[in-house]
Amino acid sequence: MVTLRGEHTREHLKKIVIINQKGGVGKTTTVVNLGDALTRQKKKVLLIDLDPQAHLSYSLGIQAHELVHTVYELIKGESRFKETLITRGKLHLIPSSLELAGSDLELGGIAGREFLLKEALSGVSRYDYVFIDCPPSLNLLTLNALVFAREIFIPVQAEYLALQGMSKLLQTIDVVKNRLNKELLVSGVIGTRFDKRKLLNREIIEQIDQYFAEKLFKTLIRENVSIAEAPSHGKTIFEYKASSSGAEDYRALAQEIIKRK
Ligand SMILES: Nc1ncnc2c1ncn2[C@@H]1O[C@H](COP(=O)(O)OP(=O)(O)O)[C@@H](O)[C@H]1O
Ligand SMILES: [Mg+2]
Repeated sequence: MVTLRGEHTREHLKKIVIINQKGGVGKTTTVVNLGDALTRQKKKVLLIDLDPQAHLSYSLGIQAHELVHTVYELIKGESRFKETLITRGKLHLIPSSLELAGSDLELGGIAGREFLLKEALSGVSRYDYVFIDCPPSLNLLTLNALVFAREIFIPVQAEYLALQGMSKLLQTIDVVKNRLNKELLVSGVIGTRFDKRKLLNREIIEQIDQYFAEKLFKTLIRENVSIAEAPSHGKTIFEYKASSSGAEDYRALAQEIIKRK
């Protein structure tokens, strides 16, 4: 499709938020590496860092604290999309800022506060996938992500209490769906940090499978030391160690996602 301005528009833009209010389950890791895996399969990918800790930005070697234009200015209407966008090879990133940490208080009184991100990104269409990395909490930023997105992927770490807090998360998603975004859908669950040598891990994956049924991706992301090392080098797993099991798993996950629809 070609728009009036002559731009090429991707008709099947997938807007996916990666969410789980638990920290350390692999949200940021998944956004970075699944994003890169998809660019290597010829997809155009935009990553949005919506966590004030800016781990996504730093993981890609972006010194977030030095930036003038970040997602914080973007949602406040003080920066335009084009000046906020960082092009890093084939990956495109909207970086985060520590200042986002105060956004609940600062933006809380504004009418339409849940729609700020959606409005800021309304002209964005030239991608196949947009992934949003969320903070480990259910706050105004998370709501903004849920209002913008169409799909939700939930990473779940294969460990004890993996599903604790899940009903709260699903309840929040339902409220957003009913009141703010009718299109919203949990479309994928990703088992992360899996260690098949541990019986407990396998039992937990079975529990997750029963709970989410066909939503659980067949590809499980195994525990892999290279995945943990790559961010400190500012690299994705494919840039850091393409032969690792981590690269293999995220490549397989990307293929599974492309094949689904
Ligand atoms: N499959 C994995 N194997 C080994 N370490 C991992 C894996 N996935 C994530 N990690 C590490 O676990 C920590 C938490 O992951 P992260 O993606 O930051 O979680 P979240 O964004 O949900 O808080 C990070 O140090 C990350 O490098
Ligand atoms: Mg994170």
